[in-house]
Amino acid sequence: MMAGLFVALLGLSTSLAVALAPGLELAYSLNRATQGISISSDGRKFLSQRYSTSDPPQAVELLSDNSTRLYPNAAWNSYNSSNPDSNPRRTFVSIDGARIGPDGRYWLVDGGSQGVNGSSKLVGVNLTTDAVDKLYYLDSIIASSSSVDDVRFNAAGDVAYLSDTAGALLVLNMTTGHGKRVLANDDSATAWYPMMYNGTLVPGYGPSGNTLQVGLDQIEVSPDGVYLYYQPCNGGLYRIKTAFVDATLTNSTLETTLGDYAEPFALTPSTGGTTIDANGNIYVSDTNLLAIWKVTPEGRATVLVQDNALLWTDLMWVTADKKLWLPASQMRPGANGLMAKGPNYIFTYPIEAGPAPIDHA
Ligand SMILES: *[C@@H]1O[C@H](CO)[C@@H](O)[C@H](O)[C@H]1NC(C)=O
Ligand SMILES: *[C@@H]1O[C@H](CO)[C@@H](O)[C@H](O)[C@H]1NC(C)=O
Ligand SMILES: *[C@@H]1O[C@H](CO)[C@@H](O)[C@H](O)[C@H]1NC(C)=O
Ligand SMILES: *[C@@H]1O[C@H](CO)[C@@H](O)[C@H](O)[C@H]1NC(C)=O
Ligand SMILES: *[C@@H]1O[C@H](CO)[C@@H](O)[C@H](O)[C@H]1NC(C)=O
Ligand SMILES: *[C@@H]1O[C@H](CO)[C@@H](O)[C@H](O)[C@H]1NC(C)=O
Ligand SMILES: *[C@@H]1O[C@H](CO)[C@@H](O)[C@H](O)[C@H]1NC(C)=O
Repeated sequence: MMAGLFVALLGLSTSLAVALAPGLELAYSLNRATQGISISSDGRKFLSQRYSTSDPPQAVELLSDNSTRLYPNAAWNSYNSSNPDSNPRRTFVSIDGARIGPDGRYWLVDGGSQGVNGSSKLVGVNLTTDAVDKLYYLDSIIASSSSVDDVRFNAAGDVAYLSDTAGALLVLNMTTGHGKRVLANDDSATAWYPMMYNGTLVPGYGPSGNTLQVGLDQIEVSPDGVYLYYQPCNGGLYRIKTAFVDATLTNSTLETTLGDYAEPFALTPSTGGTTIDANGNIYVSDTNLLAIWKVTPEGRATVLVQDNALLWTDLMWVTADKKLWLPASQMRPGANGLMAKGPNYIFTYPIEAGPAPIDHA
């Protein structure tokens, strides 16, 4: 009786560690809501921190003493919509996707603010100089309804694919900065169902009873560069050959008919984020079952690990030591909208491959 009570008390005080699914390990416990982690090949760690109930979004480097510093600097993280001196062209207005690319840069997708020119952009930070040395404004590519969300690159590293949760894909020629918005309103790019979270539909931002619908969000490129995978946030993964996607930059017929080349790939669930490994397995975070799915290159989709601590896992990362990094962003849909409370956990889980070199080193 007493021993049982003792175990129960011990279990309570270390509940997170004790309860974790086999293989899942706690790497970081952070005070601030954290959406994503990127780790450079030499071990530097970068976090995108948003979804807080009280704090503005920010990009930071996580230092070895576990403190953080604004990244690349305070100025880029200083946007204030109430201050007319705040420059939306040179500050992060609304960071979403953030990841180190195959070129070693830390790329940040600024979804911007609708109607604010220069606010939607793709920002590349050189990790050697810690300075922004690539900047693509997306004004001429996006639609008025657009919300740019995440980025991946083609095998040659000269085309960026950006998801637009209004239900479209942006294809950007990184040499010229020109691009196309394709798949707009295609069935494969459009939310066909509201999102699910922990067993129920996710409330929307509209009147009582409305639900959250989010279009094309997650994207991945196969390690051989042949396929672009993509899906709306409620799941349903498609793929298209990158040769067709890249050709939309120069072929106006393909630009309007790209959706004809979409192949259904796997019936994935409501998703927080995805990543891909060197073997071409795609990891999909399930916001409903609080789990991570694995989708093989053959399209076989199974649950890899489930744990109630995997609360809205978002921008995942794969390291060379074959670990999947899982930031549980802890978005809690409800009265405050999609906002999270701390503490915020980042977990790791063992997998059988490292990163795909064309995705991140
Ligand atoms: C930083 O946090 C990690 C994970 O919690 C821990 O293992 C490490 O000891 C911490 N480092 C310092 C210097 O506190
Ligand atoms: C934003 O700008 C307004 C107007 O200049 C100012 O009153 C406010 O304090 C600023 N907010 C922050 C967080 O700096
Ligand atoms: C918006 O920015 C683009 C470049 O990003 C520029 O060409 C255009 O003139 C700007 N439009 C307005 C209305 O300022
Ligand atoms: C980053 O800057 C360094 C120093 O200027 C340069 O040598 C390097 O090529 C840059 N990195 C990339 C990816 O361009
Ligand atoms: C991007 O633009 C450059 C310069 O015009 C061109 O050489 C290249 O073929 C373009 N890339 C694609 C994928 O269209
Ligand atoms: C998930 O739902 C269960 C059942 O309603 C509830 O007990 C639990 O607190 C929920 N978890 C979160 C994080 O909302
Ligand atoms: C454009 O793409 C279509 C479909 O693949 C193809 O039939 C056509 O020949 C292409 N046009 C050009 C100019 O390459």
